Amino acid sequence: MSTFTATPFVDKTFGVTITNLTKRFGDVTVLKDINLEIRPGEIFCLMGPSGSGKSVLLKHIVGLEAPTSGQVHIGEFDAADPETRAKVHIALVFQAGALFNSLSVYDNLALYPREHQLCNEAGIRERVMSNLAMLSLEDAAAKFPSELSGGMKKRVAIARALVMEPQLLIYDEPTSELDPVMGATITEIIATLREQTAVTSIVVTHDRDLALNIADRIAIIMDGRIHATGTAAEFREPTDQVIADFLSPVIDTKNPRFKKLKG
Ligand SMILES: Nc1ncnc2c1ncn2[C@@H]1O[C@H](COP(=O)(O)OP(=O)(O)O)[C@@H](O)[C@H]1O
Ligand SMILES: [Mg+2]
Repeated sequence: MSTFTATPFVDKTFGVTITNLTKRFGDVTVLKDINLEIRPGEIFCLMGPSGSGKSVLLKHIVGLEAPTSGQVHIGEFDAADPETRAKVHIALVFQAGALFNSLSVYDNLALYPREHQLCNEAGIRERVMSNLAMLSLEDAAAKFPSELSGGMKKRVAIARALVMEPQLLIYDEPTSELDPVMGATITEIIATLREQTAVTSIVVTHDRDLALNIADRIAIIMDGRIHATGTAAEFREPTDQVIADFLSPVIDTKNPRFKKLKG
């Protein structure tokens, strides 16, 4: 039994306001006049086909890309302003986990508080172990990433994000490449963390079960435009044929889609 108590703590969380965001790379327009309001404390799922602009949109929120025109604000702060990262703790759980293979699980989690000299080693130990305990990972502290299963790697990546005490938590494809049970486990973790910390959680995902079960709201982006925004309940029984096809494509072996593809 762990002696460390799981006490996630977020002192303030932030919403995100995206206003008339357009992004061009050369003469290709990747994001086209995007308007979105992500409310403080909600789980917001961003869905859409590959290449539709989801990752580019995330990069604007974390300040890795700047708009060609329009604005992205995190609370009252401009996401494109480098100072914003010092004011808001934004944690991004990368799709592949992005763990450091040469570091133990413990040291992966300790990296951020050590680099930012947030506390002494005893304080870091408390913080690392309580976050590992949150995700039932106490016994994995001494392990290296190569010794972990895919699901454990995702949990470690989430625990590492929590060590930052994020005020905005972003997940890029958190359940991709996982079996359905592990996908459900990660989905439950995302919902539990939001429940316990009230942190605004933005989830880019293709996982219909995740989105329909835990999202407060969902947006679907297609070809750089927001095609629709609504509550999970509205998306469970979509009246829009494009959304219905995206969320629940009918498999038709008599009239297969690939015969209609070009290029
Ligand atoms: N730095 C870049 N320069 C040029 N084109 C880019 C760049 N980043 C992304 N793109 C293009 O923008 C489009 C959207 O990409 P992305 O946001 O990664 O899609 P996804 O929805 O799969 O995450 C793609 O056509 C991609 O090739
Ligand atoms: Mg992407």
